[in-house]
Amino acid sequence: MEGSSVFLLCLTASSGVPLYCRSKRSSRQLTFSVIGSLNGVHMFANNQDVLLTSTRTENSRVLWRTFHESINLIVMSCDSNASDHSLNRLLENVFSTMVLVIGLDDLMNIKNVERLKKDLRACYKLIDSFLTESEKIGDLTQCVDCVISNDSVILQECLDGFTQAAESEFGCLLIGGKVVVATEKWWRLASLDAMLLCWLVSSLSPHSSRDYPVYLPQGSPTVPHRLLTFQLVPGVDVCILCGPSPSLQKVELELVERFWKPVLDPVKSCLRLQLRSFPISLNLHQGILGFLLINRDLNKSLYTVQVHPFEDTQRSDIKCILEHRRASLRSFYTLTMLRYFSPEHHDGKIQYEEAFPEGFTHQAHQCYVVSSSHKCYATKTDLHFLFLLFKTNVPTFSMRAIANKTMQVFTKEFNF
Ligand SMILES: *[C@@H]1O[C@H](CO)[C@@H](O)[C@H](O)[C@H]1NC(C)=O
Ligand SMILES: *[C@@H]1O[C@H](CO)[C@@H](O)[C@H](O)[C@H]1NC(C)=O
Ligand SMILES: *[C@@H]1O[C@H](CO)[C@@H](O)[C@H](O)[C@H]1NC(C)=O
Ligand SMILES: *[C@@H]1O[C@H](CO)[C@@H](O)[C@H](O)[C@H]1NC(C)=O
Repeated sequence: MEGSSVFLLCLTASSGVPLYCRSKRSSRQLTFSVIGSLNGVHMFANNQDVLLTSTRTENSRVLWRTFHESINLIVMSCDSNASDHSLNRLLENVFSTMVLVIGLDDLMNIKNVERLKKDLRACYKLIDSFLTESEKIGDLTQCVDCVISNDSVILQECLDGFTQAAESEFGCLLIGGKVVVATEKWWRLASLDAMLLCWLVSSLSPHSSRDYPVYLPQGSPTVPHRLLTFQLVPGVDVCILCGPSPSLQKVELELVERFWKPVLDPVKSCLRLQLRSFPISLNLHQGILGFLLINRDLNKSLYTVQVHPFEDTQRSDIKCILEHRRASLRSFYTLTMLRYFSPEHHDGKIQYEEAFPEGFTHQAHQCYVVSSSHKCYATKTDLHFLFLLFKTNVPTFSMRAIANKTMQVFTKEFNF
């Protein structure tokens, strides 16, 4: 198996017919015998009333999940950093993608396998975007990735008017799949649904407008809605979720220009936010390499590993550096959420990483990790989680104060 390749298999649960296979960083396809064995061992266990969920070898990890007793998903990852948690999230996202595009009914009652295989091709782009690393983190957090714009007030006003004129209550303005502004109702969609819609738009090839039927895996898995998207400038789309009316043409001809032409400059300036996720005028502490801020009420997040873009672009190995930062922040997030900030108490006890004394019951509110390549610090409040990635030269004792200051800036000044 190659370095950090990932294979994803989808089969029918009843008969084990392969529906598709996607992979990351691999030139090879899995052979039928490997596919057969992976599915066979799961089926064998099932027949013995054993639920096989995961296994690991020295260099790979395999997870199985059955959805609605109808679809089996299997993931095999050779990335030593991949956790069961992140792979489980991947499988959930992949199945949700299938519901989003096909609807739950056709997945639960498979009548024609060949037809289903063909229909499932429409999911490939979105599924592949979950397999490749990206500037977003919603695949892991199942929150909506956002950016903070200086012009959010004027853009919000414009979006609210536009959405209303299009007879909808659900609208959002997207840059590269990250939300700049969204209507109040949009924020009340199940966050998994909202996240998937954003990733869907950014995974499709650019188009001036679209009328895309979507099911909402949480909110409406069996009744489709229409997702209308309009490209305002390359990279920036406005989207609305609606019923049978209005027609795409009507919105495109009568509303897009009327509402968005007057704010074309603020729309264009959103493009500058894509990597950093917040305005260039805002300076954060020099020791911060990246961060993830989550608003726990709206399940939205602000995420970047390019806090100081000018400094970064001078480096030749920038791609590798950014990938390393992303991997570090993602694994710190997973560790912290599972081991320290988790609301779940197993048997009334919190399962910390360390062997704390018996009867130790209070919940951690802060946590940090120091390694040879970076430091990480996380803090939680009633409304937010903040995860910071630091350079190693930042004194460990000062991380808490820097985190507090950073939290204040985004939550107080920018109201995130
Ligand atoms: C954002 O606003 C601040 C102050 O209101 C201003 O100094 C800065 O230039 C603005 N940034 C952009 C990118 O428009
Ligand atoms: C927000 O996230 C939490 C934790 O993942 C989840 O329990 C809750 O249902 C989410 N809220 C919405 C509206 O999806
Ligand atoms: C795993 O993560 C560490 C940093 O946390 C990184 O140095 C290493 O390259 C990663 N391994 C893979 C296979 O991505
Ligand atoms: C963060 O700073 C604020 C104001 O400066 C202070 O009231 C608060 O106690 C600090 N919180 C922590 C966790 O240090």
